[in-house]
Amino acid sequence: MDFNESITKSNLARGFAAECQAGARYQFMSKMAMQDQQKFISDTLKTLAKNEMAHAKVFYDLILQQSGGNVKNISIEAGFPFEMPELKNSLLAESMIEESEANNIYPSFARIAKDEGFSEIAKTFDFVAKVEATHHQILNYLGNLYKTGKMYKRAKPTEWKCSNCGHVSISKEGWKECPLCQMPQGFIIIDFEKELREQHIDN
Ligand SMILES: [Fe+2]
Ligand SMILES: [Fe+2]
Repeated sequence: MDFNESITKSNLARGFAAECQAGARYQFMSKMAMQDQQKFISDTLKTLAKNEMAHAKVFYDLILQQSGGNVKNISIEAGFPFEMPELKNSLLAESMIEESEANNIYPSFARIAKDEGFSEIAKTFDFVAKVEATHHQILNYLGNLYKTGKMYKRAKPTEWKCSNCGHVSISKEGWKECPLCQMPQGFIIIDFEKELREQHIDN
């Protein structure tokens, strides 16, 4: 199948548009988080934004390579979200978008690419889907903690670490102000990978 005639070509362009926009929204949200003194959430959003821009670059490069420079302009029709409510809601809203990318959109792009004979591109869509599944988990976990006011409260004694000065202490609730450097609570690092793993074990 000729790439320039393929659905995969427009799917790559749709993916590119979606990834650029997700990258932009995460950067906007990262700033909102800093206004709320939530440094950890802000840093996490910056990392997610970087991931999305990397996905955008992969899709962009694939379009250029596969089209042999013959594609100057690709028209796409797709819906894109334009909601930017408060951070506590947008974290959860974004987590749903990530989930649909992970479970529906990219797997279906991968199937189409495979059917059209672009197996390497199919693999790329599958890889990206896997990353979006982790983004979904992170945003869902942090979004729920933030929305319910439990970012720094745990049922069991937990190790809290300040991202500014490295101070560590163990308690059920993280300090309001770091005892060593006085930075606000939002500077405490949440080891969400470990907590998500333990959640799986608990269940
Ligand atoms: Fe992405
Ligand atoms: Fe993502």
